Amino acid sequence: MSGYRGFIGVESLGPENTETESSDELLVRRLKRLLLEDVDLQELGRLDEAQRRVRLERVLNHLVSREGIILSTRERNSLVRRVVDEAVGLGVLEPILADPTVSEIMINGHDTIYVERAGRLERIPSGFTNNEQLLQTIDRIVSTVNRRVDESSPMVDARLPPDARLPRGARVNVVLPPLALRGPTMTIRLFPKAYGMEELQARGAVDESTARLLAAAVRARLNIVVSGGTASGKTTMLNALSAFIPGHERIVTIEDAAELALVQDHVVQLETRPPNVEGRGAVTIRDLVRNSLRMRPDRIIVGECRGGEALDMLQAMNTGHEGSLTTVHANTTDDALSRMETMASMSEVEIPFHALREQVNSGIDMVIQLVRSPDGTRRVVDIGYLSSRGRADFALSRISHWDVHAIGAGGSRGAFVRHPVDRRLAQRLKDAGESLPEGFVVADDERREDAGGGVPWS
Ligand SMILES: Nc1ncnc2c1ncn2[C@@H]1O[C@H](COP(=O)(O)OP(=O)(O)O)[C@@H](O)[C@H]1O
Ligand SMILES: [Mg+2]
Repeated sequence: MSGYRGFIGVESLGPENTETESSDELLVRRLKRLLLEDVDLQELGRLDEAQRRVRLERVLNHLVSREGIILSTRERNSLVRRVVDEAVGLGVLEPILADPTVSEIMINGHDTIYVERAGRLERIPSGFTNNEQLLQTIDRIVSTVNRRVDESSPMVDARLPPDARLPRGARVNVVLPPLALRGPTMTIRLFPKAYGMEELQARGAVDESTARLLAAAVRARLNIVVSGGTASGKTTMLNALSAFIPGHERIVTIEDAAELALVQDHVVQLETRPPNVEGRGAVTIRDLVRNSLRMRPDRIIVGECRGGEALDMLQAMNTGHEGSLTTVHANTTDDALSRMETMASMSEVEIPFHALREQVNSGIDMVIQLVRSPDGTRRVVDIGYLSSRGRADFALSRISHWDVHAIGAGGSRGAFVRHPVDRRLAQRLKDAGESLPEGFVVADDERREDAGGGVPWS
């Protein structure tokens, strides 16, 4: 039952401080106390949030009458709403969280709130009257994920799961005094709704035929690496690709901070854990990839390969988990392959270099390169099919690329250029019951691809 006490925030009610509080706040405090005496917390815990609100509103209206508090209807409604907001919701933060244009909320002590809208910071009036009230809200947020923040652990970084208020969840970071000098400091990053492939296409990140080819590649269980720089849209692309995985497959996702929002039902989402204050208890991407192999996954999606986990990922791709997806920080498709190879060699397992080359050659099928332009557009600038085998040097045959000099539809500069598709890729798609999307042709021979004869797309 103690778990439900958090709904009312009683643990952090603290002593009344009549000097700094207005009569309004005293009234809110008094009602919260009465509410606690009057409601059955166990029953409340069984209700969902909407039901809980209705129930609390009813009790509060009754309490206001019983206590003989004289208020106009408007005042009473606003008082009841405020108490309910503070009791079950996040009080002052509710309206900010409800604003879809806000991507980040930064609270630097009770009197300073900044929000980020469309990449710009702006200061907004703070509704918190004191640090005690802010602490109470912080407490409520971190207790929903069974975390604690107080003097003994004054720093918390946690992920909030998606709910009605946060459609994709959020990441919250709290630092308390004395570490934070200006008072309790909380940073909430709200994950926006991710773009699907159609939205990416609408934004010009990829052309229609290529988008179809990518979808076919996912369905045909190609192992795909999405490559790009910071904020180039890798995670977004990974998420968009994942939507094409058939619903009957079991998917395991592994991330440092869960950002992926898969549409399928049968998804196991795993997240790493940092070490505790004694430096113990860390669970890494590697640990999770290894463990996931015992979870009978059909596909494994790793949010980003940054180190030794590349080896485990390659092994998974090579041993019956075809159709796995990951991202890597690299600037070209070739670079992405050497990064994977280098990272795989960073694992403590001693593997001769030629063996790693084989792992990459037989593991990875396709690399999608993304680039963020200075104007903020993100684009698929290159897609390569890895046609080399065994210990041979990497050979990528181009499927599509963005040519900055080509003239696109309407005379605009830059266009997607399609290339003849490697016969082995075409065959693989065909075997999986997929056809080549319109506009793509099969390469007649090996040499043809090297000539790089592309067809501008318009
Ligand atoms: N094609 C796109 N057009 C516009 N914005 C995009 C596009 N793809 C991604 N974004 C946005 O760019 C930001 C970074 O994307 P993300 O996928 O997290 O990048 P990365 O994983 O490479 O760091 C996000 O806010 C995302 O919504
Ligand atoms: Mg990312």
